[in-house]
Amino acid sequence: MANATPVVTLPRVQAHRGASGVRPENTMTSFREALAQGASWTEFDVKLSKDGVPLLYHDKDLKRTSGREGLIKDFTFAELQDFEAGAWFGAEYAGEKIPSFEEVMQFHIDNGMQANIEFKPSDGEEDETVKAVVEMLERIWPKDRPKPLFSSFKHRCLEVARDIAPAYPRGLLTYDELDNWKADAERLVCAAIHPWHKTLTPDLVKAFKQAGYGIATYTVNDPVRARELVAMGVDSIITDHPAVMIDALS
Ligand code: G3P
Ligand code: MG
Repeated sequence: MANATPVVTLPRVQAHRGASGVRPENTMTSFREALAQGASWTEFDVKLSKDGVPLLYHDKDLKRTSGREGLIKDFTFAELQDFEAGAWFGAEYAGEKIPSFEEVMQFHIDNGMQANIEFKPSDGEEDETVKAVVEMLERIWPKDRPKPLFSSFKHRCLEVARDIAPAYPRGLLTYDELDNWKADAERLVCAAIHPWHKTLTPDLVKAFKQAGYGIATYTVNDPVRARELVAMGVDSIITDHPAVMIDALS
């Protein structure tokens, strides 16, 4: 049953990779901007460096946002600190670093923010990525605050999280493969489903709700579409433009 899991109270708006519409994704400036835009929650992508440090990065390789050859998992965290994470987005962001998960979580703690932590492991690093994230949270996340939400497209990550850290709520990310959502969400003891918004129909939203799941959908940047989704029964909109969505949905 869906609700054997820890529950999660989803916010209306989550800042996708920070305020990534106007700042380089998954960087500290993007999270500071999300806070400035009024976001109480962010979503971001976590994987490991070669030496096992959890950090924020979306792609498995360095090309798109760091302009380098190679894979994240083949560089130590110290080596990655010499790489760009901001210049690709605009010259004014040159020098922006790839942040550690610890730095980003400390920012959330200091500012009373909550996080949807997406496990985006490099190939074959599903177990270690979850373990590193859980270890860090157990060390630094205040015990008196609701636990952050975990999400992933990788069932293995949700399975490991379910087994080693059952008190953290889990969201099942889906793209266009929806045939098995119910069995998967039950098996992985999820609190929420995180579907791609283009796959959502009123009937599907109804089915998710009737089965007891929260719904957080990605990535919605059109206010008209966001209102339509909320009217269908979607709980939470993951967006690159948090201020626009907060305004549109309040
Ligand atoms: O968690 C929602 C969304 O971030 C999933 O897709 O590729 O942006 O990580 P992606
Ligand atoms: Mg993501």
